[in-house]
Amino acid sequence: MHYLFLISGENPELAKAEIELFAGADIKGHSGSSVVAECGKFEKQRLACTKYLCKFLFSCETNELNAKVQSFGWQKHYRDNFYVHVHHTEQAKEKELAEIIWKKLKNPKVEFKNPKTEIDFVFENKKVFCGIRLDKNKEKFEARKAHKRPAFSPISLHPKLARALINMTGVKKGGTILDPFCGTAGILIEAGLMGIRCIGSDIAEEMLDKAKINLNAYGVKGCKLIKADARKIKIKCSAIATDPPYGKASSLHKQSIKKLYSEFLSNAYRILDKKSRLAVIFPNRLSVKSKFKVLRRIDIPIHKSLTRTINVLEKN
Ligand SMILES: C[S@@+](CC[C@H](N)C(=O)[O-])C[C@H]1O[C@@H](n2cnc3c(N)ncnc32)[C@H](O)[C@@H]1O
Repeated sequence: MHYLFLISGENPELAKAEIELFAGADIKGHSGSSVVAECGKFEKQRLACTKYLCKFLFSCETNELNAKVQSFGWQKHYRDNFYVHVHHTEQAKEKELAEIIWKKLKNPKVEFKNPKTEIDFVFENKKVFCGIRLDKNKEKFEARKAHKRPAFSPISLHPKLARALINMTGVKKGGTILDPFCGTAGILIEAGLMGIRCIGSDIAEEMLDKAKINLNAYGVKGCKLIKADARKIKIKCSAIATDPPYGKASSLHKQSIKKLYSEFLSNAYRILDKKSRLAVIFPNRLSVKSKFKVLRRIDIPIHKSLTRTINVLEKN
């Protein structure tokens, strides 16, 4: 099936990587915030960087739109009532398009509150993408940001980013994810809320205490928390998603940060099964040698002078 993904604006590369690596999608076209891709079944409500998911109907040049809407077979996509949404254009276009569609339907009815048929038109430069809405992202990421959690840490990832990181490992509901630098559980909370079994480990007892408080606060049950060094932990899991420390040196292990990453990657390679993935964030474009195959490297600007890079790796 062909889908139209309306991605959130902050990082299109990350949104596209999530669509490809999580949904197993083959991207057919992309412009601005619209991505058209072909894929099979996937857990639709898990996507972090997609705002709306639609069944793709068509795309055309802006100046051909009215004629296209006029000739399109709307009846077979129509259920009970409808509502038209337009994106990145003037609001008046909504009414204009709805009127054309209305005239093409046998029993037309417009419904504002809970329409059964929601039609999205996304205007991107000189193109328009059209689809029937299947899902809307209702995740309250802002409510789970680090400063809203009972046990605070300033170095915790934004929940949307944490979720995208997990999704890019391809871990399924019921699978087990490990975060071996779990800190205050930012990644584990997102994994738990998606129905993924989770294991968190950290070298610092204090962090594990905070992780427990935060997991409880968001109702995540059954997460195993272990005091361990990420370079040595031996545990069975389907995937790893993690955000290691990124200071120049860590007082905890008295070694260079690059050596820590390298030893962690060697251990992760031993833990994971073939074809399993690891998603890890390193400082800007830092390259750390390992046996893993690199699937993606995606830059994430943190602020003006700081960029970090997500590495999605797969065991050969
Ligand atoms: C950037 S923080 C993780 C942030 C985490 N994602 C969160 O939401 O809070 C890095 C964590 O790695 C831990 N750490 C440092 N060296 C470690 C090691 N060798 N093994 C395991 N954990 C380690 C630190 O105690 C810290 O909690």
